[in-house]
Amino acid sequence: MQNRLLFLGPPGAGKGTQAELLCNDHGLLHLSTGELLREEVSAGTDLGKEAELIMNRGELVSDDIVLSIVKKRLSNCSQGWLLDGFPRNLAQAQLLGELLEKIVQPIKAVLLIEIDDETLTDRLLSRGRKDDNAEVIRNRLSIYREKTAPLINFYQNLGILRSVEGCGNIKDVKSRIRNALN
Ligand code: AP5
Repeated sequence: MQNRLLFLGPPGAGKGTQAELLCNDHGLLHLSTGELLREEVSAGTDLGKEAELIMNRGELVSDDIVLSIVKKRLSNCSQGWLLDGFPRNLAQAQLLGELLEKIVQPIKAVLLIEIDDETLTDRLLSRGRKDDNAEVIRNRLSIYREKTAPLINFYQNLGILRSVEGCGNIKDVKSRIRNALN
């Protein structure tokens, strides 16, 4: 199993759910920038206050903020890791590449979880997080298409992209991911 991974895919594709399962099974550090930002919001830190309004609109928090969060954790990480929700645009991918080169920890594989809009919207509406309402979901999707989807080509050109279908139950998706990463 590859031990330095990145999960890519639209909101609601199942990145967080599957990342947690994989990390538990293989002892990887699960680094979700969304989760880490929500922790900052709950703790009421300055960073959290700055991020909260942006997240509630479904827009992207600044590259500097997310990079600082990731940098601190990756630089001190002695185990394998899985990045979930980062990078979110080409600038972040570039900055991540520079950081990983510096700490000599190249990404082994990028996994794209593909899913149709209707299924992901249903999933998010039934979860009901603060940013899971119809209008914000539309915004998150359009930002995904504009800013994040170009990373698919970026990582394809590096020869490390794999993809799986994200529809179906959690167990089936889990087994597709295992096959794709083995
Ligand atoms: P983030 O937390 O990363 O949200 P997201 O990418 O929109 O992802 P989601 O958590 O909605 O979806 P997911 O693919 O992880 O699916 P999940 O497993 O949760 O980011 C939130 C915000 O933070 C961003 O909008 C932005 O503002 C900010 N942010 C984060 N990172 C940033 C960055 N790098 N730069 C700038 N800003 C950043 O599943 C969704 C639901 O579906 C769950 O209820 C789950 O139980 C259910 N589910 C999962 N799989 C299945 C299945 N197979 N069948 C049925 N239900 C399922």
